[in-house]
Amino acid sequence: MTIEADAVTSKKIAIVTGGSRGIGRNTVESLARRGVNTIFTYHTHGTDAEAVVSAVKDAGAEAVALQLDAGNVASFDAFVENVKGALSRLGATHFDYLVNNAGNNHRNMPFETATVEEFDSVCNVHFKGVFFLTQKLLPLINDGGRIVNVSTARTRLISPGGAVYGSMKGAVEVLTRYLAKELGPRRIAVNVVAPGATETDFSGGIVRDNPAMNKRVAEGTALGRAGVPDDVGRMIASLLSEDNRWVNAERIEVTGGYV
Ligand SMILES: NC(=O)c1ccc[n+]([C@@H]2O[C@H](COP(=O)([O-])OP(=O)(O)OC[C@H]3O[C@@H](n4cnc5c(N)ncnc54)[C@H](OP(=O)(O)O)[C@@H]3O)[C@@H](O)[C@H]2O)c1
Repeated sequence: MTIEADAVTSKKIAIVTGGSRGIGRNTVESLARRGVNTIFTYHTHGTDAEAVVSAVKDAGAEAVALQLDAGNVASFDAFVENVKGALSRLGATHFDYLVNNAGNNHRNMPFETATVEEFDSVCNVHFKGVFFLTQKLLPLINDGGRIVNVSTARTRLISPGGAVYGSMKGAVEVLTRYLAKELGPRRIAVNVVAPGATETDFSGGIVRDNPAMNKRVAEGTALGRAGVPDDVGRMIASLLSEDNRWVNAERIEVTGGYV
């Protein structure tokens, strides 16, 4: 299947899931500074999404915010229709970059007591949603486009309570390599970024707001502090750029050197 690059707009267009806060928000704003327009999603924080749209405008680009529950695959067909509407507002029919970033809080789940309900809930958002949203959006991605999936350093660094979350992110890392192979004929590069502990609202804001946790992370990090969204979002925006066009099928850890 060949989809020619969009002739209507000269600006690149990205879709970023979970762009209303944290790493996703920073990715949207970093892309805007690089002149990339974005369709991004929020789940429940519509007010934050409005603030991101304004910030993107201030940076000289355009953004459209769409509501999405990344864990509800039954809603994806309707979401794709919303994406087509948003693309039309941006003067396009296709987009160039997909960032699968959305993720939600979950409790630390010891393997022995994790329930089927908790497993399904984490799987739906962090793996099943990524798999099928990418599949549904594929016809709208321009040939030569790029996909970045967001994983975690916790697929390498094993700590108690992370079996469910870490396994889902591990699955995303394997999926990344399969996508890179299968989408190669369309010149679509697919990589996975694995952030270390980053100061966001994630998991109740524990990395940012719990001094003991923050200190522990800083002490284990070669560069001596916990990560902030600007450490990761910028890197993702850079990875999507032409500068990194030959980087494909890679897992890239962004931790400041967490050992
Ligand atoms: N922070 C870390 O330490 C860390 C480390 C490694 C990997 N990660 C990964 O990085 C990604 C972003 O995390 P973050 O730290 O930036 O988190 P965050 O600050 O809590 O932001 C999460 C984003 O995802 C959206 N979201 C949450 N649940 C959703 C759902 N069910 N459907 C659709 N969107 C949903 C949120 O939308 P609303 O604003 O509308 O709620 C928000 O935009 C996640 O995949 C996470 O696993 C984070």
